[in-house]
Amino acid sequence: MTRPRLSVSLVGLGYVGLCTAVSFASRGFDTLGADIDRGRVEQIGKGRAPFREPGLDKLLRLGLRSKRLMVTGDVSKVAGTDVIFITVGTPSNPDGSINLGYVESATRQIGTSIRDEPDYRLVVVKSTVTPGTTSSTLKPILEETSEKKAGVKLGLCTNPEFLREGSAIQDALHPDKLVIGAVNKESGSRLAKLYRTFYLRRPPPTILTTPDTAELIKYSSNAFLATKVSYINTIANIAQQIPGVDVEKVAEAVGLDPRIGRLFLKAGPGYGGSCFHKDLQAIIAFSQKLGYKPTLLETVEEVNEQQATKVVSLAETLLGSLIDKRVAVLGLAFKKDTDDTREAASLRVIENLKKKGAQVVAYDPMAMPNARQVLGRTVEFAKNQRSAIKGADCCIIMTEWDQFRKLKGKDYAQSMKTPNIVDARRLYTPEDLEGLKFRAIGLGHDTH
Ligand code: UDX
Repeated sequence: MTRPRLSVSLVGLGYVGLCTAVSFASRGFDTLGADIDRGRVEQIGKGRAPFREPGLDKLLRLGLRSKRLMVTGDVSKVAGTDVIFITVGTPSNPDGSINLGYVESATRQIGTSIRDEPDYRLVVVKSTVTPGTTSSTLKPILEETSEKKAGVKLGLCTNPEFLREGSAIQDALHPDKLVIGAVNKESGSRLAKLYRTFYLRRPPPTILTTPDTAELIKYSSNAFLATKVSYINTIANIAQQIPGVDVEKVAEAVGLDPRIGRLFLKAGPGYGGSCFHKDLQAIIAFSQKLGYKPTLLETVEEVNEQQATKVVSLAETLLGSLIDKRVAVLGLAFKKDTDDTREAASLRVIENLKKKGAQVVAYDPMAMPNARQVLGRTVEFAKNQRSAIKGADCCIIMTEWDQFRKLKGKDYAQSMKTPNIVDARRLYTPEDLEGLKFRAIGLGHDTH
């Protein structure tokens, strides 16, 4: 006999919601995805994911075909499921602090819809929220709108996610940990039980704690990762000043210390993406409100912001003034294998280049539609990587797409007006581009 499974639902079919939904459906759970954006729901219902993510399209189609996954524009429908995840966005306010508007309204909708529900309902906050939100803000909203008391036929947990774009499905199916912050014992046990069913053979280490601690864990993770990137970029900028020194060698050796670890020590143009900047700003604002100024985290952000100017100054060491220079920017996505340009370093670099009077021609294999929305007509978009470098005075590599490696030294030499290359992602070794004028982040260079 097959085990009866709990049904799950997700309110908010953005990145986290949709990837989590298809993962639940793929493990045999009856899954309902809900979103107030009916256009998005319709598109997803036809099997078309609104963003690119490896493995997502396949699991989405399989889920829909097997009817394990259903989608709806009517959020109240989630009332019929055992476990209701909140996966709506938590954008920034203009001062960097977190905007809880969507989470609060999702909580209100869920509460209202489960009011007459006789069975136990577990509500799980997966959206990234600052410490205290679940217990002090969402719990009262949920209790008021549902007319139930947490603990009596109503459970509430916070359960942050740690999905990376580009490997979100893999991360959802094989996470390195589960963090469950429960408002009471029963809520925590019920969520842990759900995950035991999900990860039947290999359940990940599980941290069972309070909602406040779980919320801080999420921010601490992202803040630490961002710190690692700004740290190695700082070392890269020092290495840059010392001829013959390469930050990659330094990182390799430093990373062998198990207390440090080798991951997330790749120097580059600075971090981007939907999480790091937003979450750092949110935790900084949160902390300041409590009366503590988190200088370290403020500096991590400052270093990241400055890294874009370092990239541009490498172009200047090759070209001198950038006025009216044609600069090809290869890569717009904040990292490879995604079409996401949110907070991408490429945008900061392009803004800088434009300020300095350069003409920018850009190319990205996936992210051009998104980049166009931000950059409009301020830059020229090339059809492919070869046409991007054609006639250019300088080429800056901003995203580590594998396909950029297909461009060899001779391609740059033949196509460009003057073959000046700035490698902000360390795709090439100096030997690869011998004979060309080449600068790379964190590679100390003789200036003569
Ligand atoms: C990140 C976290 O990794 C994930 O756990 C969280 O849930 C969401 O935020 P993501 O934004 O998808 O995930 O990107 P990630 O792969 O972490 O990279 C973030 C940025 O840091 C990228 O711009 C990347 O290029 C940069 N980075 C990363 C470096 O510059 N060097 C590194 O060594 C690693």
